[in-house]
Amino acid sequence: MSSESRIPEQPTVAYWDALAADFDDEPDHGLRDPVTRAAWAARLRAWLPGRPCEVLDLGCGTGSLALLAAEQGHQVTGVDMAPRMAELARAKLAGTGATVLVGDAAEPPVGERRFDVVLARHLLWALPGPERVLRRWTGLLRPGGRLVLIEGRWGESDPVGLPAAELARLAEPLTTRTRVEQLAADSSLWGRPVSDERYVLIAE
Ligand SMILES: C[S@@+](CC[C@H](N)C(=O)[O-])C[C@H]1O[C@@H](n2cnc3c(N)ncnc32)[C@H](O)[C@@H]1O
Repeated sequence: MSSESRIPEQPTVAYWDALAADFDDEPDHGLRDPVTRAAWAARLRAWLPGRPCEVLDLGCGTGSLALLAAEQGHQVTGVDMAPRMAELARAKLAGTGATVLVGDAAEPPVGERRFDVVLARHLLWALPGPERVLRRWTGLLRPGGRLVLIEGRWGESDPVGLPAAELARLAEPLTTRTRVEQLAADSSLWGRPVSDERYVLIAE
């Protein structure tokens, strides 16, 4: 991911809608290269439970990760506040049984439904009040469920994002087990070598 360094402080629906048509041009967004796609598929398989389960993908964008999860046998619900992103995700996920909702990831429009996994990639760092949002997200989990949060601190000279140590500090009081896996060294995930901080935090 490289575009995050240009994201305004409070991105609007219009901002994300305007990015939707070209969003998948980034290698880690569109996962068009088979090597990149296979790298994310392998990671996701390791991070998600080994049995079919219900996954809530928040800020799902054009649905690339959601599609991998659906292909691995999971029942996926995506949520994105940008209607154009949601439209592209629906097209990508057609025939998988996945559902894509338009709404705020900080207050997902899922009513009383609960999930085995709350998945979010490159979202939490840009939401106001990440501590409050994490509390909401852990409340959406079934007993034994897990958060799978892929985040980073992107850029060299003027980095933006959420350092892993900071996210772990926020997640630890809300969950019983938290682990961080660093991802920057695996260039197959990004389509090029990167040297900033990229990671997944898994909290159960
Ligand atoms: C950097 S993109 C990541 C997309 C996708 N998770 C991925 O990794 O390919 C961030 C996405 O989150 C969505 N988004 C941003 N703030 C949101 C919010 N408060 N509620 C729902 N979606 C949001 C944007 O519309 C955009 O699709």
